[in-house]
Amino acid sequence: MTKPVGDDFQKETKYFRNMHLSKYLDWANKPDTYKKYPKSQKIQLPQKFPEKTLDIFEILKNRKSVRSFSTKEVPLIYLSFLLWASTGIQRKSKHYEFRTTPSAGALYPIETYVIANRVEELESGVYHYNIESHLLEKLKIGDFGQNLIQGALEQEMCGTAPIVLIWTGIFLRSKWKYGQRAYRYVYLDAGHIAQNLAISATSIGLGSCQIGAFFDDEINKIIEINGIDESVVYMSVVGYPKFRF
Ligand SMILES: Cc1cc2nc3c(=O)[nH]c(=O)nc-3n(C[C@H](O)[C@H](O)[C@H](O)COP(=O)(O)O)c2cc1C
Repeated sequence: MTKPVGDDFQKETKYFRNMHLSKYLDWANKPDTYKKYPKSQKIQLPQKFPEKTLDIFEILKNRKSVRSFSTKEVPLIYLSFLLWASTGIQRKSKHYEFRTTPSAGALYPIETYVIANRVEELESGVYHYNIESHLLEKLKIGDFGQNLIQGALEQEMCGTAPIVLIWTGIFLRSKWKYGQRAYRYVYLDAGHIAQNLAISATSIGLGSCQIGAFFDDEINKIIEINGIDESVVYMSVVGYPKFRF
C-alpha cells in the first residue's frame, strides 16, 4: 500500500494557533523573482492587446473546457495578451512588481513555458515567457506534439492545440518565506493563473482546457527542468474552438 502522503501533507502543513510562526526573513538569500535564459534568442511580444473583448458576464457564461481546436493560427497579439493576462506585470511599487494574478507574499513562484504549434509569426517550438520584459525566450525549435500527448496520459489535445502552456513551480521562491506550507501556495497560485488564462482566452473568442493529468517527469524533460527545484504543476491548451460555443 502506498503511504498516504497527501493526508500527511495536509496535516503537516496546517497552521495552529499556538505554533511559532517565524517573522525572520533572510533577505540576503531571497531567491530571484525572475527566471531568465540570457543566451536565448528573444522574441518581442506586441505591447498592443486585442481591442475587443467580451464583458465579464458573457465571459463567465461562455467559459468551458475546450478540447478540440480548429486549424486556424492564433495571432501573436493574442498570445501576448494571454501571457500578460495570466501572469504579466500590472503595477509597480518600490519593492514589488505586482502581477495580474494574486500570489502568496507576492513571491510569484510560477514560471510559464509556451509550446507554440500554430501561432502567427512564431516558429513551432518551446519558449519561456520572460515576465519582467514581456518577451519570449526561444528554447528549442520543433514539433513536440507527440511528446506532449504521451506526457499528458495520451490526451490528444496536447498535440493538436495551437498553444500548450506549461506552468512550473520554483518552490524555493515560496519556501524562503513559508517553509513546507509553501507547497499549498504554489498550487493555489497556479490555479489563479490558469483561471485568468481561461477567462481571458474566452474574452477573445479562444477556448482552453486546464490539465492536471500528466507524467510529471516526462513534461519536465520537454522543458529541460530537473523536477525537484522546479517542476511542472499545471498545464493548459489554448486555441480557436473547432465547434462554435
Ligand atoms: C485541477 C484541474 C485539472 C484538470 N485536468 C484535466 C485533464 O487533465 N484533462 C481534461 O480533459 N480536463 C481536465 N480538467 C478540466 C475539467 O475536466 C473541467 O473543468 C470539468 O469537467 C468542468 O467542465 P468545464 O471546465 O467545461 O466547466 C481539469 C480541471 C482542473 C480544475
